[in-house]
Amino acid sequence: MTLPNDCRLVVCDSKRAQECLDMCKAILADIAAKNPSWYLIDETDDEYRALFSNPECFALGIEAPDGTLAGCGAASYRAEELERFRPYVPAEDFAVPGRVGYVEFIQVALGCRGCGFQRVLFQELEKILVDRGAKYLTSVVSPDNKYSLANFHKEGYREVGRYVHQRTGYPRLIMIKNV
Ligand SMILES: CC(C)(COP(=O)(O)OP(=O)(O)OC[C@H]1O[C@@H](n2cnc3c(N)ncnc32)[C@H](O)[C@@H]1OP(=O)(O)O)[C@@H](O)C(=O)NCCC(=O)NCCS
Repeated sequence: MTLPNDCRLVVCDSKRAQECLDMCKAILADIAAKNPSWYLIDETDDEYRALFSNPECFALGIEAPDGTLAGCGAASYRAEELERFRPYVPAEDFAVPGRVGYVEFIQVALGCRGCGFQRVLFQELEKILVDRGAKYLTSVVSPDNKYSLANFHKEGYREVGRYVHQRTGYPRLIMIKNV
């Protein structure tokens, strides 16, 4: 997928962490009343911002012509997140650092939806993970988040399991894509 001509892909380092957090909060406020299960962030604000300077993480954004972010996403190798996928990956692969990559989150700003930005961010994050040796791409999604789930399927992810999110009781699908 390609970006509209006037948007560009950018690396989101710690300087853009607050902008991504602000976008996240606007999204959470927007779905709070009707669809609170669709998107969950377990990190505190400090932990969320810290992801952008964590050496095990990297983040990309789509910058609109006015310089603001239309969307952003992050991927990582955080062991506490990867652990959830251990049962679904052969042990010999799971043991190799970098062989399993995790898409932490992808979010598209309110008002910037419908341009396929989630899929662009998926593809760009995945390229980096694959270049670094990933053979398994992993993430989780709400079964109710029809827009996101449709994009997971279009990108070739399959549901391998599900669990209940401890804090909220909301269901989550465990998604994997073999490269
Ligand atoms: C899921 C998400 C990233 C998809 O954004 P996107 O890349 O713009 O979605 P698409 O381009 O595939 O949109 C396809 C259609 O769904 C609509 N759509 C997408 N997300 C929507 C939402 N949350 N609410 C209502 N409609 C939405 C788009 O407007 C578009 O409609 P159209 O075809 O009539 O123009 C975005 O909704 C979002 O940021 N949600 C909150 C965070 C989230 O759920 N992230 C995924 C967690 S795993």
